[in-house]
Amino acid sequence: MGNIQKVRGFQDIYGENARRYRLVVDTAREIFKLYNFKEIILPYLEDISLFKRSVGEETDIVQKEMYTFTDRGGRQIALRPEGTASCVRAYIEEKLYGEGGYHKLFYEGAMFRYERPQAGRYRQFHQVGAEVFGVSSVYADAEMILMINNLLKSLNIQTRLEINTLGTFESRRNYSEALKVYFSQFRDSLCETCRGRLERNPLRIIDCKVESCREIAKGSPVITDYISEESKERFEKLLNLLDRFGINYRVNPGLVRGLDYYTDTVFEFITDRIGAQGTVAAGGRYDRLVQQLGGPPTPALGFAAGVERLMLLLDSVQEKEKLFSVISLTEDQFPKALEFIETLRKNGIKGELVLRSGSLKSMMKVADKFKADFVIFVSDRCELKDMKSGEQITFLSDGDLIDYIIRELKTV
Ligand code: HAM
Repeated sequence: MGNIQKVRGFQDIYGENARRYRLVVDTAREIFKLYNFKEIILPYLEDISLFKRSVGEETDIVQKEMYTFTDRGGRQIALRPEGTASCVRAYIEEKLYGEGGYHKLFYEGAMFRYERPQAGRYRQFHQVGAEVFGVSSVYADAEMILMINNLLKSLNIQTRLEINTLGTFESRRNYSEALKVYFSQFRDSLCETCRGRLERNPLRIIDCKVESCREIAKGSPVITDYISEESKERFEKLLNLLDRFGINYRVNPGLVRGLDYYTDTVFEFITDRIGAQGTVAAGGRYDRLVQQLGGPPTPALGFAAGVERLMLLLDSVQEKEKLFSVISLTEDQFPKALEFIETLRKNGIKGELVLRSGSLKSMMKVADKFKADFVIFVSDRCELKDMKSGEQITFLSDGDLIDYIIRELKTV
């Protein structure tokens, strides 16, 4: 029997990748806190109907990408494909609207979509995301974009921003109808996927990548003709705010997003550096969703970033803290070595006690494997070796050595 392998599209994240993961998530958390977002830890499993009613019955996610099962109690369950729906469910279920309605929540964690795996696209992936409830001000849209921009800047990741407005719920519906009428004339020339979309989700035909569909889409009704003056003004105001803060963007009227709940602002931060899966962060407004899921009318907006995609874009991430490996030169000095290393750790210094006794050479090999910056030899004397320079210093007492490490080397 062969070895058991991980499920297709799932990943083990370890070594430098684990450091990249941590850096992305920790940086996002810091930024979210600066903007006064509060954490919400959401379940991984939800009732299937939550996603049908929010992400949309006719979207790719719900139609073909969800991991679903029936639990032992006969409930229809889905592994969450995204975080917004759960956030909204919680907002309603926990009656957060009762506390004045104005809430800023952030989350992180695994999401699941049965997509075709490729670079930057996995079946289990992670998101960091944030949602604002109860605010319709356009300044909230601007702040959200500024926040994402700051996150990407902190990670030293360059992207371009594409932005669009879908108008209100009603104008979006009207536009959708107009597209249906238009694309129906070309039914036979559309790709198979788009023929399916025609009835269910004509908006998505606009960003189909198939050449024949792109050609047809060139002559399709444009969204601007369906958007109210109010929405247009709102969008202009947002663009002016972005200008004011020096944020570059491209208005892309074809940007419609793959989830059904958006109204007015939608945006994507995109890179060309990781192939076809270039959207690293995306989001927008969803002013109808809370109501649609049974809550009181509540404007809202949010975004999510793909942690793995950001990880691919990071420069190398090294461990910051220096490692001190302690080698006991004789068997009977181990208690002293253990005491020594515990003292280092109490002082916030990272230490590894080499626990394979044997020749000095074999113990040094262990220290090398752990990439020790310094090795401490414990015998009746105390010696410190700088692995980079090869320099070796002998100390009169353990205390002297510890003082020296704390003073001179801890933060080298
Ligand atoms: P989304 O565009 O479906 O939006 O996903 C957001 C981000 O998650 C994507 O831009 C991408 O970086 C990452 N992502 C999505 N699918 C995969 C995958 N299969 N593998 C790796 N990364 C992936 C949402 O999920 C919305 N909930 C965003 C939002 C929040 N809108 C309003 N609030």
